[in-house]
Amino acid sequence: MAMRIVWSSTRTKWVSLSGLLLLHLAAGQLQDGLLNNGDFETPPAGGFSNLGLGGRGDGPTAIPSWKTNGTVEAVESGQKQGGMILIVPQGRHAVRLGNDAEISQDMKVEKGSLYSITFSAARTCAQLESLNVSVPPASQTIDLQTLYSVQGWDSYAWAFQAQDDVVSLLFRNLGMEDDPTCGPILDDVAVKKLFTPDKPKDNAVLNGDFEEGPWMFRNESLGILLPTNLDEETSSLPGWIVESNRAVRYIDSYHFTVPQGKRAIELLSGKEGIISQMVETTPNKPYRLTFSLGHAGDSCKQPLAVMAFAGDQAQNIHYTPNANATFQTADLNFTAKADRTRVAFYSIYYNTRSDDMSSLCGPVVDDIRVALSGSNRINVIGRLGLGFGWFVFVLVLV
Ligand SMILES: *[C@@H]1O[C@H](CO)[C@@H](O)[C@H](O)[C@H]1NC(C)=O
Ligand SMILES: *[C@@H]1O[C@H](CO)[C@@H](O)[C@H](O)[C@H]1NC(C)=O
Ligand SMILES: *[C@@H]1O[C@H](CO)[C@@H](O)[C@H](O)[C@H]1NC(C)=O
Ligand SMILES: *[C@@H]1O[C@H](CO)[C@@H](O)[C@H](O)[C@H]1NC(C)=O
Ligand SMILES: *[C@@H]1O[C@H](CO)[C@@H](O)[C@H](O)[C@H]1NC(C)=O
Repeated sequence: MAMRIVWSSTRTKWVSLSGLLLLHLAAGQLQDGLLNNGDFETPPAGGFSNLGLGGRGDGPTAIPSWKTNGTVEAVESGQKQGGMILIVPQGRHAVRLGNDAEISQDMKVEKGSLYSITFSAARTCAQLESLNVSVPPASQTIDLQTLYSVQGWDSYAWAFQAQDDVVSLLFRNLGMEDDPTCGPILDDVAVKKLFTPDKPKDNAVLNGDFEEGPWMFRNESLGILLPTNLDEETSSLPGWIVESNRAVRYIDSYHFTVPQGKRAIELLSGKEGIISQMVETTPNKPYRLTFSLGHAGDSCKQPLAVMAFAGDQAQNIHYTPNANATFQTADLNFTAKADRTRVAFYSIYYNTRSDDMSSLCGPVVDDIRVALSGSNRINVIGRLGLGFGWFVFVLVLV
C-alpha cells in the first residue's frame, strides 16, 4: 500500500516536472516552424469528440495552446455539412471560425525583429469570406474569395515587426453570415523570423534570388500566396513588395521547378499580380537588368510571358519552351534617371493549369540582377565558364 502511494507521488512529481519543462520551453524564444498546436491536431482534454464536431469549442482551453472568442469549432476531414465535404488542408483536423469569432496565441518574440506568419485557409460557403490576421497594432485582411488552387484551400504569408517581447497573433473572421456554420477554415499556422539578406556587391537587387522568405512546410505542395503588401519594411519577401490587388506565389524546389536555389516566384493573375523593388542606382549610368524566366513544372498552359520594368524601360519577354531547359535568361538595358529605380514584373497572360483548368499559375522569375552595364560584362564572361573566362581575361591582359 505504502509502495503504491510512493509510486504515485513520484509519478505526480514527474508529471509536474515535465509540465515545468514544457513551461520552460514555452517561455523560450520562438522557433521557426509550426506554432504550438499550429496544425490543430493536438487532442483537446476530452478528445476531439468533446469539442463536438459541428458543435461548440467555447471556453479558454478548449483548443490546446489557443485562446478563442466566439464560435470556434474543430472540424475533421471528411466531415460533411449540407451537401459539402469540409476541406481540411493538412492532417485530420482544422478549426472553423464562426461569425466574428477569433482565435489567438501568444508568442515570445524578439522585439524589433521581423516575423512572417504562414497559414492555410479554406472558405466554406460564404462567397465573401475573409480573415483578419493581426499582431496588434499591425493587421491585414486576407481575402479568401479568390481560390488560387483547385484543392479548395491555399497557404498565405503575412509579416509583422514585433513591437514587444510577447505578442498576440490573432485570426478573426470578419464575416457576418446568416448561416453561422459558414466561416473560414484555418490550419497549419507557422512562423519564421526573417532576416534581410546582405546586398551583394555586383547586384543592386536585394533578395533577387528569393531565397529569403516565409516559412514553407517541406511537404506542403501548393506554394505560399503572398498577398498585396505595399510596405517594404514588413514584407514576407524581404526587399520586395506585392503592389497589385492579387497575390503572387512563393514556390520551392521540392514541389516546383525553380531556376536557381530553393525558392522562386510564380507570377499569377496577369497584370493583377505585380512584384517590385526600388533599387539603388546612379543617375545617368547605363544598367542592365537580367533575370531567369521559366516554368514551374506545374502543367501551366502556355504561352508564358512577363512584362519587365526597369525605370522608364519596359519589355515583354516570352518564355520559349526548350526541352533541355526549364528556364532562360532575359535582359533589359536602361539608363538610370534617379538614385532609386523601380524594377517590376508581372505576367502578361492569365494562365491556368492544363490538368485541372482552374488552378492559377504563370511564369517563374528568379535570380534578378541589376548591375552597371560595364561591370556586367565581367559577369557574362564568368557565366560562360571559368576556363573560357580566364582565356579571355588572359587575352585582354595581353
Ligand atoms: C470577444 O469578442 C467581442 C466582440 O466580438 C469583444 O467585444 C470582446 O472584447 C472579446 N473578448 C475578448 C476576451 O477578447
Ligand atoms: C483586424 O484586426 C485588428 C486587431 O484585432 C483590428 O485592429 C483591425 O481593425 C481589424 N481590421 C478590420 C478590417 O476589421
Ligand atoms: C507533413 O509533415 C508533417 C510533419 O512532418 C506530418 O505530420 C504530416 O502528416 C505530413 N503531411 C503529409 C500530407 O504528408
Ligand atoms: C537538347 O540537347 C540535345 C543533346 O544534348 C541536343 O541534341 C538538342 O539539340 C537539344 N535541344 C534543344 C531544343 O536545344
Ligand atoms: C543589352 O546590352 C548588351 C550589351 O551591353 C547586349 O548584349 C544585350 O543584347 C542588350 N539587351 C537587350 C535586350 O537589348
